[in-house]
Amino acid sequence: MLIRPSVESDVPYLYDICLKTGDAGKDASAQFHDPHLLGHYYAAPYLFFDRHLCFVIEEDYIPQGYIVAAGDSFAFYQWMEETWMPPLRRRYAAPFPQEWAKSAYEQRLIDQLQQSVIPSETAFPWLSRYPAHLHINLLPAVQGKGQGKALMNTLFAGLGQKKIPGVYLGVVTTNTGAIGFYNKIGFSALREESWGITMGKELNHGL
Ligand SMILES: CC(C)(COP(=O)(O)OP(=O)(O)OC[C@H]1O[C@@H](n2cnc3c(N)ncnc32)[C@H](O)[C@@H]1OP(=O)(O)O)[C@@H](O)C(=O)NCCC(=O)NCCS
Repeated sequence: MLIRPSVESDVPYLYDICLKTGDAGKDASAQFHDPHLLGHYYAAPYLFFDRHLCFVIEEDYIPQGYIVAAGDSFAFYQWMEETWMPPLRRRYAAPFPQEWAKSAYEQRLIDQLQQSVIPSETAFPWLSRYPAHLHINLLPAVQGKGQGKALMNTLFAGLGQKKIPGVYLGVVTTNTGAIGFYNKIGFSALREESWGITMGKELNHGL
C-alpha cells in the first residue's frame, strides 16, 4: 500500500470512499438517492481548496482511503461559501422535493445546502489553537492495519510544513471505533456536541 499526495483525478474515488464509510464509519449508500451528496461536503472541496493537505492510500492503483484537511478552517468555510456552494445551490434549487431524499440524513444535507456554511464568530472558540480540521476515511479492507495512523502522521508533517499549531475534527457519538482511534492518536475532547464530539490535537513542530 502506498500513501501519496492526492491529485484532482482522485475525486471519483474520494466521493466513493466518503459514501461507503459515511454512516458513522459504515456504508451510507442505502441512505442516499444522490451518491455524491456526502462527498460534496466532506471530501471533494478539500482537494480544490488546498490539495497539498490531502493524501490517499492506494493499493493496486486504486485509492482505498484518504485524509483531507483545511489548514485554515475559517478561510476554508469562506471559500466554500463563495466558490463551492453557489453552483451546488443552483443545481439543488429550493424548494427541494421532500419525497426525494432516501433518509433523514440525506434530507438534512439537502436542507443545509441553502444555509451559510460560515460559522459564527463564537461557534468554534478553539480556532486560534486548532486552526486546521480534517476528515479521514478508509474502506473496510484497509482498516485496522496501521494505515489510518500513517495517514494522520503524513498529514501532521504537511501541517508542520505550514507551521499550523493544531487540528480539530468532529465525530458522531455512535462512531466508537473512530473515537478510540482518535484518542490513541492523541486527540482529546474539546466540546460535547448534540451529535457527537469535537476533538482537537496540538501539533508540536518546534514552534
Ligand atoms: C477510524 C479509522 C480512520 C482508523 O484507521 P485504521 O487504519 O483503522 O486505524 P489504525 O490501524 O491506523 O490504528 C492506529 C492505532 O489506533 C488504535 N485503534 C484503532 N481503532 C481503535 C479503536 N476502535 N479503539 C481503540 N484503539 C483503536 C489501533 O490499535 C492502533 O494503535 P497502535 O498504534 O498502538 O497499534 C478507520 O478505521 C476508518 O476510516 N473508519 C471508517 C471511516 C470513519 O469512521 N472515519 C472517521 C469519521 S469521523
